[in-house]
Amino acid sequence: MSSLPSRVRIVEVGPRDGLQNEAEIVPAAVKIELIDRLGAAGCETIEAGSFVSPKWIPQMADTAEVLAGIERRPGVGYPVLVPNMKGLERALECGVEEVAVFAAASEAFSQRNINCSIAESLERFAPVMEAADGNGLRVRGYVSCVLGCPYQGEVPLSDVVRVSKALADMGCYEVSLGDTIGVGTPTKAARMVETVAAEVPVEALALHFHDTYGQALANIHACLPLGVAVVDAAVGGLGGCPYARGATGNVASEDLVYMLHGMDIETGIDLDALTETARFISAAIGREPASHVARARAA
Ligand code: HMG
Ligand code: MG
Repeated sequence: MSSLPSRVRIVEVGPRDGLQNEAEIVPAAVKIELIDRLGAAGCETIEAGSFVSPKWIPQMADTAEVLAGIERRPGVGYPVLVPNMKGLERALECGVEEVAVFAAASEAFSQRNINCSIAESLERFAPVMEAADGNGLRVRGYVSCVLGCPYQGEVPLSDVVRVSKALADMGCYEVSLGDTIGVGTPTKAARMVETVAAEVPVEALALHFHDTYGQALANIHACLPLGVAVVDAAVGGLGGCPYARGATGNVASEDLVYMLHGMDIETGIDLDALTETARFISAAIGREPASHVARARAA
């Protein structure tokens, strides 16, 4: 396939991926306002938090409070991350409609991030998938380290394909391919997506590119002609993974929206409202927005 999608669904991960790395606890009221502003800006999928161990990720300990406080807009999804059955049970108590499980293509990263091997993580997800299905929840899957690992270095493409397919076979409706440390470059990113798409339908794939080396937009641009039409992004370019030191945030949502709209690709998102939201959350955590759009518009 070599035509561009006419519409891209952006999965806004700022409230989760963006904030999980912040050392200072961001008050729940700020997280709630962030999510409500993103909804008002037209985001249709907003990752609202995670039900992981609060000892591992203290910043996400208040996800239940956040879910209780947000305005749940019709037509907007508010998925949360769950690593195991305990996470799923906590999510069910909050009435969520969608969860995400997360695995890695690198053994070393799997151990550091979720304290188990890739095989063990997939075994752990089996009952989660079953219980989610029984409760009518949709499940998204993440694969980390698809273009490199902070501990292992190179990650064989065959491992990326194997884990992506395992998640899809298990029932994940979508598999998000994570360049966790933002080391990918366009040709490599496109080859990775093409290779995974031979085993998992491209319609069920999403891009999740961190921007550590400034390549995220270029990588997304290289992958769009392959038929991918779902892209993860974080407002203000916030974030990083606590288990990938030095890795910066995802591609900034407003930079992504600017590029897509410029390519006549619809997102349903109001760029001005999104940029204002980037300023809001950046001010709340005491820094300048990391996005080009926010800086250009402030000038
Ligand atoms: P563990 O210590 O091996 O787990 O952690 P355990 O089952 O042995 O339990 C230990 C303790 O944690 C127990 O409590 C459990 O109850 C508790 P204690 O008895 O000691 O008081 N516990 C939980 N508490 C609340 N909610 C839960 C839960 N599970 C256990 N769900 C575990 C294993 C997976 C829990 C841990 O390693 C963990 O929480 N890791 C979090 C990792 C994480 O959140 N990383 C960031 C998100 S992934 C990411 O950013 C990448 C992504 O963006 C894609 C990309 O960029 O590549 C998605
Ligand atoms: Mg991430």
